[in-house]
Amino acid sequence: MRKTIKVVVVAGARPNFMKIAPIYHSLVARKGEAASLGLDLSVQIVHTGQHYDSTMSDVFFTDLGLPAPDRHLEVGSGTHAEQTARVMMAFEKVVLEERPDVVVVVGDVNSTIACALTSKKLGVPVAHVEAGLRSFDMGMPEEINRKLTDAISDFLFVTEESGIRNLRNEGVPQGRIFMVGNVMIDTLLRNLVRIENGSVTPSTAVRTHCPVGSRYAVLTLHRPSNVDDRESMIPLWDAIRRVAREIPIIFPVHPRTRSRIAEYDLDTGEIALIEPIGYIDMLYAVKGATMVLTDSGGLQEETTVLGVPCITIRENTERPVTVEIGTNYLVGTNPDAIVSTALLVLLGKSKHGTIPPLWDGKASERISDIILKCFIDR
Ligand code: UD1
Repeated sequence: MRKTIKVVVVAGARPNFMKIAPIYHSLVARKGEAASLGLDLSVQIVHTGQHYDSTMSDVFFTDLGLPAPDRHLEVGSGTHAEQTARVMMAFEKVVLEERPDVVVVVGDVNSTIACALTSKKLGVPVAHVEAGLRSFDMGMPEEINRKLTDAISDFLFVTEESGIRNLRNEGVPQGRIFMVGNVMIDTLLRNLVRIENGSVTPSTAVRTHCPVGSRYAVLTLHRPSNVDDRESMIPLWDAIRRVAREIPIIFPVHPRTRSRIAEYDLDTGEIALIEPIGYIDMLYAVKGATMVLTDSGGLQEETTVLGVPCITIRENTERPVTVEIGTNYLVGTNPDAIVSTALLVLLGKSKHGTIPPLWDGKASERISDIILKCFIDR
């Protein structure tokens, strides 16, 4: 008798679309192989709607060749409790109707913990991709999401050695931990080729701001701890403006940050503010950049693989391998440290990084192997 394996992959917020794309594609590519073993493999995408603007969501589906989600929960924005609760209530209905064999969640956003918790309580196994990362800063909503998701997940797919150590220290059994590499990098390597062979073309706006062979920096800034209060953001903004006097800065602005810039009435001066950009545009901009200034998680990893110096405007990172062997400088939020590190990079004195183990474009294949093997063996 034929058996069906149903996998639900959860998407919800911007950094997650890049992570689910290779997993989705790699699972779908296994359908034929599964069929030859008597298995009907069904793969569904559920979009929670945590991010909903076209520049924060739709553009990634187009750029990454993802089909429209099978389900869209349309939860939208809200306080953490409101957003998490709305995702849980809507996702519970999906799980009850679909009865998946496994739910795959990625990263550390509110949609991640909400769907993991809902699935687990309904007895559905959870696979967490990008498990084990720790900033050890419980003031970050993402750290809470990471720890809780890891504590209840059945498959913990890890990107770097620190993830294994952290999970073992928290008492996670070895048998649940799988070092698979980094799915973000699968997406990066695949799309780098598409940009280089001309099968995708970055927008005119981005090509104008980032001319080939010219010196420019890319800025992203959206962490609540950096932008959500005036006392934190103003000194950072002043430091960034000092850097902007030395090198043009292009800044795709997150909606949260755009509101704060208006609220604090900040002078944008020399900085080129643009709307949030899609994946292909961002990859193109970062690939050719002299440096990146950021408080994002994913960019610390992407710059390490691209060999671009990254100045991380945070006191901690959950991705230490990018600092230890990559091109990442964890400078903190001290304005002078931000400016002096940027000047060091401009003088051509930045460190040369190496690429962490298994960040080779094959992480999603390893993940689908492990998931399918587990269900085939049952
Ligand atoms: C979320 C993630 C963060 C991730 C970031 C990437 C959590 C706890 N945080 O933070 O880890 O790095 O996404 O962007 O899950 N908004 C829009 N349009 C949208 C989405 C949001 O205008 O499509 C505005 C709304 O005013 C909203 C605010 O941005 O209230 C914040 O959105 P939210 O998803 O709550 O958090 P992010 O700061 O985006």
